[in-house]
Amino acid sequence: MCGIVGYIGNKQSIDVLVNGLEKLEYRGYDSAGIAVLDDNQNLDIRKSKGRLAVLEENTKKIKVNGNIGIGHTRWATHGEPSDRNSHPHFNSSKNIAVVHNGIIENFNDLKDELIEKGYNFLSETDTEVIPCLIDNYYKGDLLDAVKKTIARLEGAFALAIVSKDDPDKLIAVRKDSPLIIGVGEGENFIASDIPAVINYTRNIYLLENGEMAVLKKDHVSIMDFEGNKVEKEVYNITWDIDQAEKGGYDHFMIKEIFEQPKALRDTISPRITKDNDIRLDDIDLTEEYIKGINKIYIVACGTAYHAGIVGKSLIEKYAKIPVLTDVASEFRYNNPFIDDKTLMIVVSQSGETADTLAALRLAKEKGARTLAVCNVVGSSIAREADDILYTWAGPEIAVASTKAYTTQVAAFIIMALYLGKLTDNISDEKYNNILKELSTLPEKVEYILKDTSKLEEIASKMTEKEDVFFIGRGIDYNMALEGSLKLKEVTYIHSEAMAAGELKHGTLALIEEGTPTISLATQDHLYDKMISNMREVKARGGYIIAVSKEGNTSVEKSADEVIYVPDAADDVIAPLAIIPLQLLSYHVAVKRGCDVDKPRNLAKSVTVE
Ligand code: F6R
Repeated sequence: MCGIVGYIGNKQSIDVLVNGLEKLEYRGYDSAGIAVLDDNQNLDIRKSKGRLAVLEENTKKIKVNGNIGIGHTRWATHGEPSDRNSHPHFNSSKNIAVVHNGIIENFNDLKDELIEKGYNFLSETDTEVIPCLIDNYYKGDLLDAVKKTIARLEGAFALAIVSKDDPDKLIAVRKDSPLIIGVGEGENFIASDIPAVINYTRNIYLLENGEMAVLKKDHVSIMDFEGNKVEKEVYNITWDIDQAEKGGYDHFMIKEIFEQPKALRDTISPRITKDNDIRLDDIDLTEEYIKGINKIYIVACGTAYHAGIVGKSLIEKYAKIPVLTDVASEFRYNNPFIDDKTLMIVVSQSGETADTLAALRLAKEKGARTLAVCNVVGSSIAREADDILYTWAGPEIAVASTKAYTTQVAAFIIMALYLGKLTDNISDEKYNNILKELSTLPEKVEYILKDTSKLEEIASKMTEKEDVFFIGRGIDYNMALEGSLKLKEVTYIHSEAMAAGELKHGTLALIEEGTPTISLATQDHLYDKMISNMREVKARGGYIIAVSKEGNTSVEKSADEVIYVPDAADDVIAPLAIIPLQLLSYHVAVKRGCDVDKPRNLAKSVTVE
């Protein structure tokens, strides 16, 4: 979603702003802009629809000079993508400029009030009320005017503010939308995400909700919205920018697919002890607590939800605890059965997804204990959950989630085993077997990735198709949902996932001669039934691309193409069998000339509801 960068120091701020915004491009955006306090103490504001390159072109033609500035990449919510609606927004006399992530829910009322006072509005955005309100309250003290302004705002807002009347400072504000402060020497930074500043500093303040900061060149002061000083520890970033760059691959998506053996190793191995047991130092669920709960909820969005539904089947199987699942955008409005005997598990790569965060907060309010499966350390979800099981996938930049999914599933396998043991519902033999299988996953993924030529070949046959179906049973159906999501988001081919047994209750009518039907047949206990479903599709002309385990050669009789993954227990197969589906989507997208890492209309971190 939208990205924010701010700079105050001795460098030409335009360079820092553009560099920072480039690092946030992966979040998805449709326009970009900057406001720099120039050497004549005027605000030089440039903004343009489209890619950052358009803005850069603009700032190269007529140079922007100045050491203080703010920048933004916008993903349209209120008002179409256009130069006019791009940020920064400013008041009519152009002395205050603001960039904003989030949504101001009461902007219509505020706008009417300001229009009555004589303010003019140039854009259709909710954001424009903010610089106008600051101007309205400004009586010589910018901080005071900002405090009065944010007291009037309802909704979510991360803000960076600059004013020519207070030329030695930037103000940052955070409510329900992430914002960090980078601390340098003789320079300081604002950003909506760490990669934007990591080229300049590794020392970060993570602003909490309800906090704001005043940045000067050589000082940062943090306070709450009432102005009370907040003492904060500097957080040191240990990961490298190289990890967040392409490292020789054509796209982040393929790089991240190939990073999965490491991501899985990093997620699994610290949790398995030498004597083959599970150690979860990071979560604190006791036997007494687990035996006292009556259900678990797993709530998430998109790919993270697809990992969650695999988690549901494993937890129910090993721990015999009922698990309800819901997508976060529906959960809150579905009258969820949450009480103090509910364990609420939320799953999120970014840790900032607005709906997931809201679901977490609602569950807490209703007395549930909350556990997050999350990838981004220090993110809002990671900080607000009672317990946190990190996936150690490293930064995921491509909009299409790949290594986050496999590590989330691995985290659920670990959790299900752990809960199974705590509740005495899993036999030692099963526990030890699955644990052993879990440790071999990284090398099995490496094996799959050694030769991807067959998938490229199949991808060539799919580039012109308009509909693709994914079918499976049990965990294979869970994977079909994820495979289908991956295909549609990066290739723009229409795709649907079906429980294989459901097909003949309606959707089978859509199968025509040559319709690609990706059929997952990895579950031993459902194999024969799955073969029958594949035959039903084949009999109607469907083109069957089967995914099965090595050794299941009989599948060849019912399929046009077969992709084998290494043999593994049914319960740990998801992180393996999903890899060919990720690769297939990637290669089809490349062959169709799609913008693989930044699919149209999508954003990496969905921080609005
Ligand atoms: C799809 C994808 C999305 C995310 C979803 C949740 O490839 O990436 O469906 O999984 O937006 O995001 P997080 O996990 O950051 O909460």
